Amino acid sequence: MEESQKTHYWWQKGVIYQVYPRSYQDSNGDGIGDLPGLLQRLDYLKWLGVTAVWLSPIYPSPMADFGYDISDYQGIHPLFGSLADFDTLLAEVHQRNMKLILDLVPNHTSDQHPWFLESQSSRNNPKRDWYIWHDALPDGSVPNNWLSVFGGSGWEWDEPTQQYYYHGFLKEQPDLNWRNPAVQKAMLDVMRFWLDKGVDGFRVDVMWHMIKDDQLRDNPPNPDYKPHMATYEQLLPVYSTDQPEVHDLVLQMREVLDGYSERMMIGEIYLPIHQLVAYYGINGKGAHLPFNFQLLLLPWEARQIGAAVAQYEALLPADGWPNWVLGNHDQPRITSRVGREQARVAALLLLTLRGTPTIYYGDEIGMRDVPIPFEEVQDPQGLNMPDKNLSRDPARTPMQWDASPNAGFTTGKPWLRLAGNFARENVQLQKEDPYSMLSLYKRLIALRQQEPSLMTGEYLPVYSDTQLIAYIRQAAGHARFLVVLNLSHRPGYFKSQDPSLTGVVEIATFPELEGHEVGEAINLGGDEGIIVRLD
Ligand code: NOJ
Repeated sequence: MEESQKTHYWWQKGVIYQVYPRSYQDSNGDGIGDLPGLLQRLDYLKWLGVTAVWLSPIYPSPMADFGYDISDYQGIHPLFGSLADFDTLLAEVHQRNMKLILDLVPNHTSDQHPWFLESQSSRNNPKRDWYIWHDALPDGSVPNNWLSVFGGSGWEWDEPTQQYYYHGFLKEQPDLNWRNPAVQKAMLDVMRFWLDKGVDGFRVDVMWHMIKDDQLRDNPPNPDYKPHMATYEQLLPVYSTDQPEVHDLVLQMREVLDGYSERMMIGEIYLPIHQLVAYYGINGKGAHLPFNFQLLLLPWEARQIGAAVAQYEALLPADGWPNWVLGNHDQPRITSRVGREQARVAALLLLTLRGTPTIYYGDEIGMRDVPIPFEEVQDPQGLNMPDKNLSRDPARTPMQWDASPNAGFTTGKPWLRLAGNFARENVQLQKEDPYSMLSLYKRLIALRQQEPSLMTGEYLPVYSDTQLIAYIRQAAGHARFLVVLNLSHRPGYFKSQDPSLTGVVEIATFPELEGHEVGEAINLGGDEGIIVRLD
């Protein structure tokens, strides 16, 4: 059946927006964003046109990794509010005809989670096997060479019980042993708890880490390692991640979701495309959207991005729905990576490619990475590898709402400093400026949501000049669109062999181009991108 004739689900048709709750809106003056604060901003999200909100973790946590170290999977951290606040938020999201996606962190808990405290209490505790414990080697050293993503060995010695436990991230984030059926059941029950409340889906943290080689074999060295890279990159994590058994776990999670109506899961997976697509599962019974991070990771270069789009489109399994991500709380912001002008081109790309887009909060106003003085660094990744500029704080700074003190984020002292330019770059000012980044995002989202060709239509690449990416989006019986993007700062020339490619520019990074008729030769200035409604 032709794609445009199929029924599409909300997570295929919609636009996802990631909120980092600590930094979105504070309501009680403690300098940390919270759920009642987010509630006040739901009308903004509705106005922007996004259709689903993904929240980074809001559960009780000692905050060693800002909520990715969970000590209770079925509660709300008092910093963010209460379960009653959550219920209100969920109801208000649904009231606005939007969806709510929660972060689920099944790979590891906090070392303060009661499960770990029990597991650690003695070698014969019934929960001992819920985590990955191992004897030292005869010389006392760690069981194997596996490294922690946040620096150093992945093994931590537990003096009282004389064994090591494994942690792929901080030592405060011990990895669960997903080979144990009791662990599987406990986490599936967590999913049911939130699904019963009416949550629409999960973004599953480090899905590809969930299960490890049962023989704990050493990882091989990475021949491409360079000293500026994180120490974790010294090895290729072929035995500690992306194990064949992970797909059975994903299937089990999928089966839980399929017991409810129209729920979904996103998998956080940093893998090359050919490995990533396996996470759609056999017969499509895996993750609905294995996150596709190519736009975050590739050099901003038309040939490489064009080739990656082609490869991704080609390798997607039948009925595998694509998705695209331009930013998240772990990566430098797009505006800082490619510059302000190219960030507008990037917005056109994100919102016109085939597949569900995910927008990171603040990118819609072009927020930049904020330099955080060393004494103010909060992120453990930054603190553990201080010489490598790996802190994720710069991309996690408070949302810039208006020109009032602290940009309207808090009346207290913000947990992270704000961008110095918030009085000039904020939602309130950009709302009034038709040429702002915010106005561009709003118009792009609206066009995508109105036009079936852009929302769910086919993607047809058109070869052009090497600085450009060009493609057509089309759905039978609907207006077709040609997208031409100049990923460089220099002029670029699009020439098509196809005389039917004429039309009128609907949206452009430089609005002066809008309304212009274009024919088979299109001359674009540096940093220009256009969406043409074809005749
Ligand atoms: C991925 C999350 O996005 C990141 O913020 C976190 O530090 C690690 N997983 C560990 O949970």
